[in-house]
Amino acid sequence: MAVNPLRDELRMHRVPGPCAMVIFGGQGDLAGRKLVPALYNLYLRRLLPTGFALIGIGRRDAGGDEGYRAEMRARCESFSRTPVTEVEWQGFAAMLHWITGNFDDAATYAALAARLAAADTDLGTAGNVLYYLSVPPSQFPVIVDGLGDAGLAAETDRTFRRVVIEKPFGSDLASSAALNASVHRAFAERQIFRIDHYLGKESVQNILVFRFANGIFEPVWNRNFIDHVQITVAESIGVEGRGRFYEEAGALRDIVQNHMLQVLSFVAMEPPASFDAEAVRDERGKALVSCRPVRPADVVRGQYVAGHADGRLARSYREEEGVGAHSDVETYIAMRLLIDNWRWADTPIYLRTGKRLPKRVTEVAIQFKRVPHLPFSYAAAEQLEPNVLVLRIQPNEGISLRFGAKVPSERIQIRTVNMDFQYDTAFSSSPAEAYETLLLDVMRGDGTNFPRQDAVEESWRIIEPLLDSWQLQGGGPHHYEAGSWGPEAADELVARDRRRWRRP
Ligand SMILES: NC(=O)c1ccc[n+]([C@@H]2O[C@H](COP(=O)([O-])OP(=O)(O)OC[C@H]3O[C@@H](n4cnc5c(N)ncnc54)[C@H](OP(=O)(O)O)[C@@H]3O)[C@@H](O)[C@H]2O)c1
Repeated sequence: MAVNPLRDELRMHRVPGPCAMVIFGGQGDLAGRKLVPALYNLYLRRLLPTGFALIGIGRRDAGGDEGYRAEMRARCESFSRTPVTEVEWQGFAAMLHWITGNFDDAATYAALAARLAAADTDLGTAGNVLYYLSVPPSQFPVIVDGLGDAGLAAETDRTFRRVVIEKPFGSDLASSAALNASVHRAFAERQIFRIDHYLGKESVQNILVFRFANGIFEPVWNRNFIDHVQITVAESIGVEGRGRFYEEAGALRDIVQNHMLQVLSFVAMEPPASFDAEAVRDERGKALVSCRPVRPADVVRGQYVAGHADGRLARSYREEEGVGAHSDVETYIAMRLLIDNWRWADTPIYLRTGKRLPKRVTEVAIQFKRVPHLPFSYAAAEQLEPNVLVLRIQPNEGISLRFGAKVPSERIQIRTVNMDFQYDTAFSSSPAEAYETLLLDVMRGDGTNFPRQDAVEESWRIIEPLLDSWQLQGGGPHHYEAGSWGPEAADELVARDRRRWRRP
């Protein structure tokens, strides 16, 4: 098969310099399901540096390097998007190592320092290290202090040290600020990469390309032409054994505060002066600064009760494993947001997310205003809907535009039709996993797709009135049947503005 020289050149640009990656919590769910399979796929794509080592750390004895390799092979066989083959696995596995140790034990960091020094000598990792904290947030300060005390966080003129932290970045504004302060005890902001895997999705990154690489959309991307925006993150699954985690998070903290507000910042931001990480993050941050704190009256919470979903009977949230029998945690949330700036003033942004909805879909729908005057008869235009531009984040990643067209006949009859772009057919390939993209970005030191501290704190500020009001007043969520599109109160929320939710 002929090699595409352009693709090869692209690969050369992307291969990062040598480094070691340390995964704290290397046997955990995220490490085995996402991180190690992503690294294996980067290896297959020849995108891992030649000087590379992966060191897992955790308190359970994995059976040394060999035991860890066997455990990770089983995980990759279950979760890698490309099959594991013997030859490729052997090459990848040689870079995997295991350290058994507790995160609050100084001996763990001494063992790590020795292993990093050996990786430098044996595998040529050049003194560069990235630490991935794939652990519960309570362990972040413990590990950061351990690394700081052992002198493992300090960079030199020629080497980097970076730290990757997983959401949740706190559980409210105060705890998020405290968490940031604790990570800053050993690392400067430029060394910190906060992972929000939505930002690694091609379809989210493409929002910027779509808006700023094309001349025709930006002139209409404002309150003069846009009636409102709807952002939907719908899941058909329930809490899938993560009930205990979900009881502490709920839909607001699990999805809205991070993924949805980050996607909103891509849609709402002003054009950056360049595609430099700080320039892009400045503009995304400013969009969130302009967002008005949400009013509790503009929010509907829901919780699913038993119903039919995914073709079978689904039990209620309160019957899920790890969930309290009287739990009032929301599995659905709908809200109306306003952005106070010249581009968006008085243009509502509606967000909704939920579990056990009829299908899995994440999309941004830009709903344009109706034409000011329609020169056709009412009968001709009866089936005409306003233009909608839909950015499909997942699945079927792509973009579609709905517009009116004449139905072929001898008279004027108008119907709304779709113009569609799909990634897989346009580029004959499906997008890489978000974790592959983001891990590569961290190795290359590119922070564009990672929320900065200011953006994280702004997003907590936006939802803070809700957290306060729920704490003060309580008040249970509305119930909705599993397999439905959420509580009726959510329809009433948009109907108040004479609008309705799209059916994605
Ligand atoms: N899993 C996901 O899909 C997902 C998605 C988004 C974000 N996240 C975030 O990613 C992080 C990791 O999640 P996870 O689901 O992978 O958690 P997990 O399965 O509990 O993994 C954490 C690992 O760290 C080990 N560990 C915990 N405390 C330790 C200590 N003091 N000393 C040594 N080892 C210790 C645990 O060992 P034991 O097994 O012995 O407890 C476990 O192997 C969390 O912050 C989570 O919120 C996860």
